[in-house]
Formats: sequence, structure tokens, C-alpha cells
Amino acid sequence: MNFGKNILCIGAGYVGGPTMAVIAMKCPEYKITVVDTNEDRIKAWNSNHLPIFEPRLEEIVGQTRGVNLFFSTDIKNSIKEAEIIFVSVNTPTKTFGYGAGMASDLQYWEKTAYQIIENSEDPKIIVEKSTLPVKKAQAMERILKESKNHLHFEVISNPEFLAEGSAIRDLIEPDRVLIGSHQTESGLKAAIEIVDIYAHWVPREKIITTNLWSSELSKLVANAFLAQRISSINSVSALCEKTEADVSEIAYAVGTDSRIGSKFLNASLGFGGSCFKKDILNLVYIARNYGLTEVADYWEMVIKINEYQQERFVRNIIKAMFNTVVDKKIAIFGFAFKANTGDTRESPGKYVAKKLLEERAILSITDSQALDNARLDLAGMDGNVIYETDPFKAAIDASAIVVVTEWEIFKYLDYERIFEKMKKPAFIFDGRNILNHQQLFKIGFNVYPIGKPSLTHF
Ligand SMILES: NC(=O)c1ccc[n+]([C@@H]2O[C@H](COP(=O)([O-])OP(=O)(O)OC[C@H]3O[C@@H](n4cnc5c(N)ncnc54)[C@H](O)[C@@H]3O)[C@@H](O)[C@H]2O)c1
Repeated sequence: MNFGKNILCIGAGYVGGPTMAVIAMKCPEYKITVVDTNEDRIKAWNSNHLPIFEPRLEEIVGQTRGVNLFFSTDIKNSIKEAEIIFVSVNTPTKTFGYGAGMASDLQYWEKTAYQIIENSEDPKIIVEKSTLPVKKAQAMERILKESKNHLHFEVISNPEFLAEGSAIRDLIEPDRVLIGSHQTESGLKAAIEIVDIYAHWVPREKIITTNLWSSELSKLVANAFLAQRISSINSVSALCEKTEADVSEIAYAVGTDSRIGSKFLNASLGFGGSCFKKDILNLVYIARNYGLTEVADYWEMVIKINEYQQERFVRNIIKAMFNTVVDKKIAIFGFAFKANTGDTRESPGKYVAKKLLEERAILSITDSQALDNARLDLAGMDGNVIYETDPFKAAIDASAIVVVTEWEIFKYLDYERIFEKMKKPAFIFDGRNILNHQQLFKIGFNVYPIGKPSLTHF
């Protein structure tokens, strides 16, 4: 079949896979190839067991794979054939050298620049999909300028705003698509080509075009604002627990102000995921590098409050359970960093599990999508861990249930039946405030929500 455009995506992860599947579905005349150095991941994308879980992803990959969507490890030839290359490789926080624990580790991203110049025979548009510190397109351009055939590569920034768990919905109905380019003739022309892809299904008024650096920085700022709302309400939850105010009532009262809005105001045991912490650290690092100490300190507090909230949650569990959890069985409900994903990167559940294991508790962890990742995350320290797909079984003989992920299923379990099988006194620590606390209290549980008075029988 003759395709209209040949698009390549380097990096078949949580962003590359779903994004390209949706582009393939919405642009049937384009050929979309997704490549990765990780052979197992590509094998999984070509199998019936996709490497990541997202609602509707299987259905869309099923419709497009082998038609106009292809997953491959042949990076060289795929680069050669492509006209437009999206780069969607991982950009984790650096763990070594200068900027360790703060700056982005750009080695994977930079390697793609070398792969592109080594294997290109024609000029191409390179689209930064990975989240990058501001001004990083410049580094990519400098490497690409070294192309042996003196080819011109126009670099475009197109940060991804999808949220895991609702990736497909976010891609199909985005709040906006952001495309940043140099404000030169070739930059603007390349930006139009990328606009044309999204315009297949996204209304034009939702496609924002900016200069390159605004686009890069917008992504960091968007995540920093979202995380800041969570840390703000979580800081209030600590105050509520001391004053008998109810954080949900406050969130409602505050969120009905149309200037503030109601989203991202649910108090919890803290945010996780691969992006929020990393992107804020990046913002902090950049601000410090420019000598903007106050700006850096301001954003750093968002992370500090998040760490404080997770630690506070674990301390509350231990304190409530008479200051010891040694040899006590605790059922951990969830492990993914949020509902509807199996991703456990920076998951608060992982933090809670590790801390409770250090306190020598026995854990039974239940999560419908994240148990494989949980096994990897706790490898070497899981002698006292049972992995259990059935929440009911996970709670048998447990002294406490700790909700760490807001899976819908946890709301609708038969807690009377669960209570009967648990050790008494039985505790529930609701780290997501998703359960019916009064009802649980009536059943006999001692209930500890976040930012609300606890309900106990003592
Ligand atoms: N996960 C999210 O929700 C999300 C949302 C928005 C933006 N982002 C950003 O998107 C980028 C990708 O995130 P992700 O979650 O998809 O990461 P990921 O780790 O799931 O996937 C990245 C993939 O890139 C591959 N890769 C690395 N170097 C390569 C190379 N040189 N050639 C070929 N493949 C290579 C890795 O093997 C991996 O499979 C990051 O910058 C992240 O910050 C992520």
C-alpha cells in the first residue's frame, strides 16, 4: 500500500505506544512505525499481551497493527524511511554526576540524535515528544547539524499531556495540543506539517502553536501546577487532622470558586508517577542554574510536602496500630501510582510497602494490573510479601487494610464479609478517601481517612 506520510516514533513506552496508536487510527493514510531498543517491549507490542495497560489501548492497537501501525526493532531502516520522527524516549532524573537527583538524564534522548544523523539520507522533521528541560532542542539541533550529508533537520517541540489511566481518552479528546517551533520560515513550515497530523481529529482552536522554548517550558510548568494543587490540599489535610475540619468539605467549598475549580483537590497519601516529581525537579534545577533561588525553593516545596505526606501516612498507620506492626499482616489495596494503570514508577504504594516491610510487617498486596511491577519493585525485600489478585483473599487474617490506589473495585467490596475474616481490632487506612467511612465504622472497623477525623471504637 502507498502511504501518504511516513512517520516514525523512537521509544515504544507509555507515551510512544498509545500516541502512535491513536495517530494511526485517526490518520489511516499515514504509515506509522514505532521502534525501540528493548526487544521484549517490541515483542509484547506485537503480541496479544501489550506491554502496558490503558483502557481501550488493546482495541485500537488491534484495529491498526499490521494495517498502518508497525512495531519494530529495525531502528536504522526505519529512520532512513521516515519523513517525520517523533522522539519519545525516557528522560528520567539523573542518578549520577552533576545534577544527580535533580536534572534530567538526557543520554537516551541524545543517543537518538546520533542515530538520526547516522541513518538519514534526506532532511527530516524531528519532533520532541519526550519532556525536556527548556532550551534542549538547541542541543539536539547542534548534534543534528553535524550530519555528514549536511542535511537540514527542523526540530519541533510537541510535549505530551496525556495522563496514564486515561491516555487514550486524553489523546482522542485533548484539552490542547502544543506545537513549538522556531519562528523562521522553515520552522513555521515544519510546525504546519505537525499541525496537519493532529488536525485530522483535534479542532484547530485546540492546537496551540508557540515558539520552541515556550512549548518546552509549558510542559514542565503544567505538571508543576498540577502537582502544586495536590501538595496544597495535602498540606491542608494535615491541618484538618489536627483541628477536626474535614478536607473534603474544604476542597468542595474552595473548588466551587470558579477561579479555583474543583479538579486535583482530592487529598491523598501523595502523588506518584514518572513525571510530576521529575519535571518539578527539572524546573527547580533550571531555576537554580539561572540563579533564581526563590523560584527554585518555591517549587521544591511541592515535592517536600509530597514526601512529608507519604511519611506522615505511614507514621499514622504505625501509631494507630499501637506503635508496632511487627509480624502483623497488612493488606495493601493497590500498588499502581494511580487507578487504571499498571505503572508503579514513584508510586506512593511502593513507599508505604517498603516502609512497612522495614517495620517488619507481613504484606499481602492486591492490584489488578500492577502485581508484576510490584514484584520487580520489591525484589530482594519481599520475603514477607504475598501477591494476591483477589482483595478478599488478601485481607484474610490481616489486622489492617491500607488503600494506596483509587481503583473503583475497592469501593464496592463486601466489607462486612472482609471484616469477619480479619484479625481484631481491624483497621482501615484510606490513603485515597474513596471508601464509605461511616459504613465501615458501623461494620466495626477503626477507620483512618486522610484529612478527616478518624472513626475508632477505642
Ligand atoms: N508516562 C507519562 O504519563 C508521560 C506523559 C507525558 C510525557 N511523558 C514524557 O514522555 C517521555 C517518555 O515517557 P514514557 O513514560 O513513555 O517512558 P518509557 O520509559 O515508558 O518509554 C521510553 C522507551 O524509550 C526506549 N528508548 C530509550 N532510548 C532509546 C533509543 N536510543 N532508541 C530507541 N528506543 C529507546 C526505551 O527502551 C523505552 O521503551 C518522557 O520524557 C516522559 O517524561 C510521559
